Amino acid sequence: MLSNENKLILEIEALKVEFDRTTNKLIKDVRRQDKIMDRSDKRQKKEYDELQAKLEEIKALQQEIEDTQKEVVFTMGAIGESRSKETGNHVKRVAEYSKIFALHYGLDKKDAEMLKQASPMHDIGKVAIPDAILNKPGRFDEEERKIMDTHALLGYGMLNKSSRPLLKMAATVALEHHEKWNGKGYPYGLKDEEISIYGRITALADVFDALGSSRVYKEAWDDERIFKMFKEERAEHFDPKLVDIFFDNLDEFLSVRDKLQDIKG
Ligand SMILES: [Fe+2]
Ligand SMILES: [Fe+2]
Repeated sequence: MLSNENKLILEIEALKVEFDRTTNKLIKDVRRQDKIMDRSDKRQKKEYDELQAKLEEIKALQQEIEDTQKEVVFTMGAIGESRSKETGNHVKRVAEYSKIFALHYGLDKKDAEMLKQASPMHDIGKVAIPDAILNKPGRFDEEERKIMDTHALLGYGMLNKSSRPLLKMAATVALEHHEKWNGKGYPYGLKDEEISIYGRITALADVFDALGSSRVYKEAWDDERIFKMFKEERAEHFDPKLVDIFFDNLDEFLSVRDKLQDIKG
């Protein structure tokens, strides 16, 4: 017979064995769990990395689309302007001037940026004007002038079928860039704020640049002469608030003109 003491020892031994077994099992379980966690961590990390890569790809694509859009817009503008013997830099300068006007006028950044892209397309309608008229040296007779003036409506017709906000804005600009604050412009003789701010801004930006650039058929005006004309045309041809913005921020406009000079040759 075992003594009570021995019995107790045996029981303790048995308990220890049981304890070790359970502990080992627990340790194994924990290790297995760790492995599973590790594997799922790795899988999650992989999924995350893949998602990140896809996002980068989408971002790059979006940038590509935006860059292409900008280029297409400038190219379209340049096509219109090349028909009127302007240079590629003319549309770039008009774009920058328009943005400066827009920001000082109080349009939000998004609108100002959109106008910067839309304003270069103001003369796109000229692609539909016959060469014989466009290339005519000297003054237009009344009939030719009438045909020439249709470029505003023609441009509008080309652009306004799009539902894209940028092209809608460009359509407005094409339509209204020859309207005058005093109502004596064309095609509709709209006056003051009947003309959208986009049309009013592009009108001033376009004239400022056209006057200051020399072309085969004309000398560039010096600044003195341009400024005098702008003062005379304040609230006549041009929105008075925009003329004030022009003189108040002259440095900004002139620095754009310096930066984007035409390459002579
Ligand atoms: Fe025009
Ligand atoms: Fe122009």
